[in-house]
Amino acid sequence: MRLKEFSKIPTGPIKMKKVVITREVFSETIELLSTHFDIVANQQDLIFKRDELFDLISDAEGIQTATSDRVDDEFLDAAPLVKVIANTAVGYNNVDLEACSRRGVIVTNTPGVLDATVADYAIGLMISACRRIGEGERYVRSGQWKGMRFKQLLGVDVYGGTLGLLGFGRIGQEIAKRANGFGMRVLYHARSPVDPATEASLNASYVSKDKLLQSSDVVMLILPYSKETHHMIGENQLSQMKKHSVLVNIARGGIVDDKALINALKNQTLFAAGLDVYEGEPKLNPEFLELENVVLSPHIGSGSVSTRRAMAMTAANNLVSVLSHNQAPLNPVNRS
Ligand code: GLV
Repeated sequence: MRLKEFSKIPTGPIKMKKVVITREVFSETIELLSTHFDIVANQQDLIFKRDELFDLISDAEGIQTATSDRVDDEFLDAAPLVKVIANTAVGYNNVDLEACSRRGVIVTNTPGVLDATVADYAIGLMISACRRIGEGERYVRSGQWKGMRFKQLLGVDVYGGTLGLLGFGRIGQEIAKRANGFGMRVLYHARSPVDPATEASLNASYVSKDKLLQSSDVVMLILPYSKETHHMIGENQLSQMKKHSVLVNIARGGIVDDKALINALKNQTLFAAGLDVYEGEPKLNPEFLELENVVLSPHIGSGSVSTRRAMAMTAANNLVSVLSHNQAPLNPVNRS
């Protein structure tokens, strides 16, 4: 009897669920996922062609994606077994949520762990744009600097200015905290005002979008990209901004109409811009490269070692929760 029962136990290796990690992550993420799944990692950070990636994901139940992966119907057709898309970012505009939900695929993101890091970076870009740090660095490196001159590379003050935040979620609020330290007046616009206690603690006032554009010395974008926010900042909005004001975009390319921004920078109706994201990135409008009054960075707002580690682990833990523990995702963004 006992022997018979034993003989029912399958022999040979137990088949583990397959998880694909599309871009390079840290070793501890690989270690965690390897204890639960059969994993395919991409530690060489190869940029796969769509059909190469499609081959890899054809039998995957979980995929840890990056913002550079376009998860749409075609992608999901190529991964018929997939149950979870764990996007390694707080933003998920690279994922067609509707297509995932329609197929019962859970989508997760990495909120919370990057707020302070992105807020620090936003302040850095603001100061760089206002005080011409990038331009100064290029000047020194080019060997043109012949000594300190009183009126050289004069910028605009951050201290005491008005900061207008378009978007006031967790990251926006972290930025507001920091802006208070610079003696800035903080205005914000979002779908709805936050509660009065939060407003009071952040010393921030809710205003209409137009009022924010017209009153701010620095307009900062920290809101999700969607059909509704596509080109939300175009010629009309830029023309409402104060002369010599500064635009900082750490949210997503596509929220700004880059052509309109280039015109405003060329005409110097804006003093400067600080950009970490671009429409169609990693391609960017080459005219940006010709302009001195724009600070350009390669989508590194959340790029500190500890934050990127935390993001990768958050995404991995979502895969473990659903696929290994049969539990709810930790950070769901759709109703699958
Ligand atoms: C990065 O851009 C993110 O959305 O986390």
